[in-house]
Parts: sequence; C-alpha cells; structure tokens
Amino acid sequence: MTPSPEETPPAADASKRRAAEAALALVRDVRFLGVGTGSTIRYFIEGLAGIQTHFEAAVASSEQTAALLRQAGIRVLDLNETGDVDLYVDGADAFDPHFRLIKGHGGALLREKILATASRKFVVVVDSRKRFDRLADSVAVPVEVLPFARSFTARQIVRLGGAPALREHYLTDNGNQILDILHLPLNDPPRMEIQLKSIPGVIESGIFAHRVPDIIFVAGGSSTVESLERPDF
Ligand code: A5P
Repeated sequence: MTPSPEETPPAADASKRRAAEAALALVRDVRFLGVGTGSTIRYFIEGLAGIQTHFEAAVASSEQTAALLRQAGIRVLDLNETGDVDLYVDGADAFDPHFRLIKGHGGALLREKILATASRKFVVVVDSRKRFDRLADSVAVPVEVLPFARSFTARQIVRLGGAPALREHYLTDNGNQILDILHLPLNDPPRMEIQLKSIPGVIESGIFAHRVPDIIFVAGGSSTVESLERPDF
C-alpha cells in the first residue's frame, strides 16, 4: 500500500497515535480489557500505563503485546481466567463501509478474532490509509494454517480463486504458518470467511466479516479523529 503524499510515514505514525489515544477514553469501568497487536496498539499500550486504575487486568492477543503490557506494569491474564472481556481494542489492515475488516498482517489474527468475538464491545483504531470502499481492492488476506496441511490448504485456496504465498521464516504464537492470499474474490466477505474456515487445515482467516467492530476511530491528515459507529445494515 503506497502512502498518499499527505500521509507520509511520519504523518501516519501521528495518525496512529491519535486514533489509539481516542480509544483510551473508553477504558472506564472496565474489568477485563482485551488488547490487540501492532504499531497502532503500541500507542494504546503507552497510554494505558497512565490509567491502570480504570481496569482490573488485560488479556493480550499476542506474546508481543503481553510483553509490552507487562513492561508497562499492567497485569496480564489468560482468557480462560477472565471469561468474556468488556472491551477489546485492536488495529486493522483494512476496513470497508460495512465495518468488515482484514487483519493479521502482524500475524496475530487467530487470537485477535477470538478476543473480538469474546468481547462485549469491539473497537478498532486505524489511520485513514486503512479505509477502502471494497475489501476486494485492499490488501492480501492472511490465513493461519496448520503446517502439516500447508500445501493442501494452499491448493484449496487456489480453487477459491486466490493466490497464496507462504510468509517465509514465520511461525505464529500458536506454532502455525501464515499464507498471505492475493486476488481472493471478496465480493461477499462473510461468505468467503466461512468458505476459508471450512477448509480442513485452515485454523483461521484474517477476514472479520461476522464479528465486526462496534466503533472505528479513524485518524487522517487533519487533527480530528473520526468516531464511526457500526452501521445498521
Ligand atoms: C495484527 O495481527 C494485525 O491484525 C494488526 O491489527 C494490523 O496488522 C494493524 O497493524 P498496524 O497497527 O501496525 O497497522
């Protein structure tokens, strides 16, 4: 994805920080807080360090996030200890007007989807380069696969019209591999999410078309942060 001229990488960093800071205002009267993964979420974790009294403990979507939370002095619990989380905040790689997402470029999509689904409120923080009219025109779709079934799952994905590429020298926190899929026909993202999940050996895909966020904070070139509420289609 090529940054637009007004959204050069340093500006994108500033936008990520502003989007993440907007979500901090929602961390009130929260017992268990789910925390996503990625460069935008790093800013969110930085801010969390100052409001630790606003929540009891965090559940991390990745080992990387768990380490950052602990470094910030935040108590980290396992999802099995907390039950559903009150609020889950995460970044995304792409979103469309229906609030459907592509996630997983940071490799944490499986735990991210579990936390999103196990959350009472799901909030996404993004810079405006992540906004697309159609997911089909956005970014590759990461799919976490069992190493034993990697070639089989790749062949099945080709039959669905996608072009899978193995993420080289990479294992997820769950010991699995990632196939990044280009050219996947994404005219019907909810259907494709189900089709991918039904392939034996596919653990999870980065299409989030069923559990979509309740709120998306989008920060762009100006100093304002847009707060988008989930449309009722
Ligand atoms: C992590 O696996 C991803 O789903 C991230 O949420 C996504 O890649 C966004 O990351 P950035 O905030 O670094 O853009």
